[in-house]
Amino acid sequence: MKALVTGAAGFVGSHLCEGLLAEGHEVRGVDCFLPYYPRSTKEANLAGARGHSSFEFHEADLVTADLAPLLDGIDCVFHQAAQAGVRTSWGEDFRIYSDNNVYATQRLLEACKGSGGPGRFVYASSSSVYGDSEDLPVSEFSPTRPVSPYGVTKLAAEHLAWLYWKNYEVPTVSLRYFTVYGPRQRPDMAFHRFISAALGGDTVSLYGDGSQSRDFTFVADIVAANIAAATADAVGRSFNIGGGTRATVNEVLETVGRIVGNPVPVTRHDVQKGDVRHTAADTSAARSALGFAPAVGLEEGLSRHANSLKDSA
Ligand code: UGA
Repeated sequence: MKALVTGAAGFVGSHLCEGLLAEGHEVRGVDCFLPYYPRSTKEANLAGARGHSSFEFHEADLVTADLAPLLDGIDCVFHQAAQAGVRTSWGEDFRIYSDNNVYATQRLLEACKGSGGPGRFVYASSSSVYGDSEDLPVSEFSPTRPVSPYGVTKLAAEHLAWLYWKNYEVPTVSLRYFTVYGPRQRPDMAFHRFISAALGGDTVSLYGDGSQSRDFTFVADIVAANIAAATADAVGRSFNIGGGTRATVNEVLETVGRIVGNPVPVTRHDVQKGDVRHTAADTSAARSALGFAPAVGLEEGLSRHANSLKDSA
């Protein structure tokens, strides 16, 4: 197939490009290099895909670009592009989130309408759509009540994906990622910061007492779920994509310290507004519809993540 990967220079997008190329697909990547973290980091993310003869890259902003040429000849859209970050989505910056996460998604869906549109549209949603769920693990039928403005934008875009399927037959599938980690993880995220600190970087901030927990998901498992969602009998549905290895932040700090061989230096800060307390995914729907079976556990995934940061240090 010929795939369009939006957010191709990002953490998940760049791995997805490489995964698709490795399976023999053609990939058109698009990214606008939002300045949330340095362009040089994103260029480095892209380096592997750029070296491949079946890859083409377009620098374009989905909020303003003419989307028809980007979609020309595309069989499947993997829409990974977004303004990421839960804790930074308050205040004036919300405009960046609503433009890049909601409006850009609506424009892309609008451009996919009609008979010449792609045969599949896979949307990168988020566990943040659930907010502070009382019943864990959450299934896709659990209430969605985000507690961050970021989560509101991811849920709004997921609703858009569903209603463009319902009204215009755009064949959308949404994947709700649970805290993704691994090589190239965004520099604002916990594991990147914790491993870098243990390797000799700056002291990290620990938000709250560290008893909050996440269902951490290794990036290769996210790539596998996306590729499966391109062809599975799953249109019009949303799926939890969680790694199945839930841990508290304190447990992660301890594991990182052991793997790296140095404790993670932390300073304690208040709980951040927008942070959920716990996440845990019921992935039975993804297992039966997508054949999803996470292959990388937390210990192994953290070792691979730490090795990649050691190599780039
Ligand atoms: C992550 C991503 O950043 C979101 O884009 C994604 O949508 C979300 O997962 C999701 O699953 O829906 P988060 O779970 O906050 O959000 O991931 P991390 O930034 O890795 O944080 C994990 C935990 O570590 C949080 O409780 C956070 O407060 C804590 N943390 C993070 C710290 O204590 N210190 C830090 O420096 C960073």
